[in-house]
Amino acid sequence: MVMRRFWRGLQAALAPLALFGAAAHADPIAERIGDRVVRFWPDAAAQASALPSVALQAPMPALGPAPEGFPVTPVFTNEGGGHVVRITTSRGTSLYGAGEIGGRLEHSGRTIVCWNTDAYAYNGQSPSLYQSHPWVLAVRADGSSFGVLADTPNRLVMNLSHGIEFRAQGPPFAVIVIERSTPQAVVQALADLTGHMPLPPRWAIGFQQCRYSYAPSTEVERIAREFRSRDLPCDVLWMDIDYMDQHRSFTFDPVGFANPKGLADTLHSRGFRSVWILDPHIRQEPGYEPYDQGTKYDYWVKMPDGSPYVGKVWPGMCVFPDFTRRDVRAWWGSMTAEFVQRSGADGIWNDMNEPAVFDVTSKTMELTARHEADADLGGPGFHTRYHNIYGMQMARATFDGLHGARPNRRPFVLSRANHLGGQRFAAAWTGDNRSNDEHLLMALPMVLNLGLSAQPFAGPDIGGYAEACTGDQFAKWFGMGALFPFSRAHAEKGNIRKEPWSFGPRIEALCRRALQTRYRLLPYLYTVFEEASRTGLPVARPAFFADPKTEWVRSNEHEFLLGGDLLARVDLEDVPDPAQRNLSDDARSWPEASIVDGPKERAIPALHVRAGAIVPLGPVMAYSDERPLDEIELLVALDAHGHAEGVLYEDAGDGYGYQKGEFSRTHFTATREGDTASLRATHEGTWAPPAGRHYRVTLLGGAKLKVAGP
Ligand code: NOJ
Repeated sequence: MVMRRFWRGLQAALAPLALFGAAAHADPIAERIGDRVVRFWPDAAAQASALPSVALQAPMPALGPAPEGFPVTPVFTNEGGGHVVRITTSRGTSLYGAGEIGGRLEHSGRTIVCWNTDAYAYNGQSPSLYQSHPWVLAVRADGSSFGVLADTPNRLVMNLSHGIEFRAQGPPFAVIVIERSTPQAVVQALADLTGHMPLPPRWAIGFQQCRYSYAPSTEVERIAREFRSRDLPCDVLWMDIDYMDQHRSFTFDPVGFANPKGLADTLHSRGFRSVWILDPHIRQEPGYEPYDQGTKYDYWVKMPDGSPYVGKVWPGMCVFPDFTRRDVRAWWGSMTAEFVQRSGADGIWNDMNEPAVFDVTSKTMELTARHEADADLGGPGFHTRYHNIYGMQMARATFDGLHGARPNRRPFVLSRANHLGGQRFAAAWTGDNRSNDEHLLMALPMVLNLGLSAQPFAGPDIGGYAEACTGDQFAKWFGMGALFPFSRAHAEKGNIRKEPWSFGPRIEALCRRALQTRYRLLPYLYTVFEEASRTGLPVARPAFFADPKTEWVRSNEHEFLLGGDLLARVDLEDVPDPAQRNLSDDARSWPEASIVDGPKERAIPALHVRAGAIVPLGPVMAYSDERPLDEIELLVALDAHGHAEGVLYEDAGDGYGYQKGEFSRTHFTATREGDTASLRATHEGTWAPPAGRHYRVTLLGGAKLKVAGP
């Protein structure tokens, strides 16, 4: 009986694929859901039977018909058993977004498949990586922009060869189009729809060091000592799966990690936070507490015959929590809460949550496995429908669990698998990259495209996860990676050592300079993170944000903006590049800043301050909150009118007081008056910056002026 019901369900899910020919839908429905934001449906039947959106933060009720003359109109058809949506683009339009995908910054000509995949050692042509972002950002030749969101969690093929084409299985779905005069405004509107990244704790924007694995705990302590004794700034050390007992989540190796809390306390006393990995799979083993509990309460994803789906992962044969259920997420959240009490962990790393399964060609769970999803996610359904949001719902459970356990601390979660909208719960790293030239070149485009897809908190494994590298290659990874929003070095088991000191004193000195640069920039970076969390703008932004009309700037992938006021120039010109990236230099018109003293080095990206901007820098510290920000240097780049402005945002660095006004936002203005530059400051918020803070002003671009104030 149960069996029959499941098969009927499967047939119903597949039925639309067979029913239709290739005719365009006669009556697409267009409804306004925001200012120049229109949701299109193929027809009334599709609209009436639509599943709830998982990407949108909240259901968006229709506000009326589409505005007259709305410039983008998707065409819906059914072809070859799938739902097809086409959007034509005008000549000279550049396409971006699509979240986590390798290759170039511009996606025009690519085919990208939204299907969360354990993509170990992927390359620039891999069609699917770990996360799915069914979203394309289009920038027209005149710099105006639109974005298109295919509102389905199902497997989706995005063909960007001739305009934009989406092809998906499963039920018909809506397409949401955002129209704006600039790409940055489109990205902000996307964040308004899908949710903003919450402001992370300040330590999480410091540098982080990982390896598969630092074990036993004495090795973790040794790494901590090395960082401190060598004056290499670092905020976080990471525990990969070897801290566990036989790779089982929520356990500790009784020998190597006999006292996890003691380890976390020792790290805390040296100014390190720790992030610990938790995988979703649970070993099928009576007597193992999470297995016993989940079995008792019937929490596993099931096969059509009602038995739990079982797949092999690190600890052996495993079952998988059904994170599409609220009760299962609450259970996982409470286990996570208890885990952080026991381990003293400051943050949690969710891995393998595509979910990854070993020894099967699909690399994942059976598609006929069944999720008993809550109605707000779409109700019970097959893995086909829930595959792409499995990781997102795990990250959500983890985020909520941390938040419940420590309501006065901001949760920090890193998740390998995720979906558009998942920036609400977790930061992203770009998975198991390789330490080769291709990955060095595509790390920046990947971070930028994640930012253009509403995920500002992203970065690659610095140094490359797989494969060895030379010291000079490592220094390039480090120089660039130290500027990414999420800045973590990582390497796989069996790989050469990849700590900053592993390649001798010359490379160590370059890594130190890269790290010191990041720590000098922290006051500015935190200001940019706060702006990103509030406005939805990315932290790392493509150079074309400063000039979307100029065609070559739209393919500039060796320079990027950090916030609105700094342009970083990553020099990878000596890296063999079959794609022959565009190396035109946009930074020339902005004065260069020297953040940390030293000769010009290829590995250390040049940083240029926007003319008209003021950038706040702090002192180098061993970790982000080693001491209060008692010194601030203001880099002032006056514009042609002798004017510059900048902002410094500060708060307690953790907790939620800032939402009640306990922050400090200082607006600086510099104006040239004769041979003097006068600096003024105004202040917002109730949080008091450290008393007796010392300000230093540096005028860039050769201006020789006296400085007055603040
Ligand atoms: C796969 C992850 O991508 C990698 O970062 C991690 O080190 C291994 N799993 C082991 O946990």
